[in-house]
Amino acid sequence: MPDASPTRWHLAHTTWFFETFLLKSVPGYQIFDERFEYLFNSYYNSVGQQFPRNRRGQISRPDLARVLEYRYYVDERIQQLVLTPDCPLAVRNIVELGLHHEQQHQELIFTDIKHALFGNPMFPSYHQASGAKECAADMPAARNMDWHQCDGGVVEIGADEQPFSFDNETPCHTALLQPHRIALRCVTNGEFEVFIREGGYRQPEYWLSMGWQIVNQEGWSHPLYWIPMGDEYREFTLCGLCELQPNAPVCHLSYFEADAYARWAGKRLPTEFEWEAACRARSSGEAFADHLLDSNLPVHPRCEVLTGSENWLGNLWEWTNSQYGPYPGYRPVAGALGEYNGKFMCNQFVLRGGSCATPGEHIRPSYRNFFPPDARWQFSGIRLADQPE
Ligand SMILES: [Fe+2]
Repeated sequence: MPDASPTRWHLAHTTWFFETFLLKSVPGYQIFDERFEYLFNSYYNSVGQQFPRNRRGQISRPDLARVLEYRYYVDERIQQLVLTPDCPLAVRNIVELGLHHEQQHQELIFTDIKHALFGNPMFPSYHQASGAKECAADMPAARNMDWHQCDGGVVEIGADEQPFSFDNETPCHTALLQPHRIALRCVTNGEFEVFIREGGYRQPEYWLSMGWQIVNQEGWSHPLYWIPMGDEYREFTLCGLCELQPNAPVCHLSYFEADAYARWAGKRLPTEFEWEAACRARSSGEAFADHLLDSNLPVHPRCEVLTGSENWLGNLWEWTNSQYGPYPGYRPVAGALGEYNGKFMCNQFVLRGGSCATPGEHIRPSYRNFFPPDARWQFSGIRLADQPE
């Protein structure tokens, strides 16, 4: 799968990040292995050329033991650097960025290994058997689709006093919202199944032109991890193959599918500004208390009745209809790290919310994730919006 990377690559790459952006400028630092610069550089052209992403899965060396050796080597030197009494603020800021970068890769480890396990016709489970039981457990009924009403007006958008934000969340600025309403929960598997059974994937009027092309080219007829069996669907999860839970939120959809569903339902996707304003109005600004990466629960989105909250943060990445672009006055950070976010501001859409695979501390209302509109392997779902009745 061209977008996914092996777990070992993620570990080596996050280590490479610390080595490249911090240790290489320390006088006397001895590079661990010169060849890693090419192999574990993801996309930083200012640093140098990169090994092709779509071939990362073919690399069997360095093995895990060597990657761990690399990790310990870099960790030790980063600790020395940070513990220096006069460690400059600029250095500490890059250490912090490196930690947030690592959290992003912790999530990718889940989404990438899920895709790899799905490729095995035995549908192996990532979680232990006890986890599988919870994944397959009957979800309580989802609440009716209730709505947050917004009269419109000027709202504050972006990162403010938070201890950390990526450059793409800044500067803080105002946006004008039109009157609208936004759903208090995401679309469920059961609701999405109706769309499928009513021929949603076969009717071009619901699809953007590029989406319709992909649906036909790739033969899409259901979400990525659904598997038709007889008259029913089953769903591949990190607990292996499970019964489809009608009340759990539907996930692993592309932007095109989310948009087509919304059109079929007579609604639309929210803008990222509508989403952020509603999230701030309705939530504490943090992932729910027993977020699964802080618990032993299986990594799978849950029904809002189970989590006891509206699940704005920490269940699913929710597609918005906002193209990923710069906020007014946006400036990428200086140097090679400016490549982190800014250069991707073309042909991608913003997702908000953070998923069940996102570390709880990594989630905030201003956070902007972004993926091309055909990406399906993240835990991505649908929250509807429309104009007031
Ligand atoms: Fe990275």
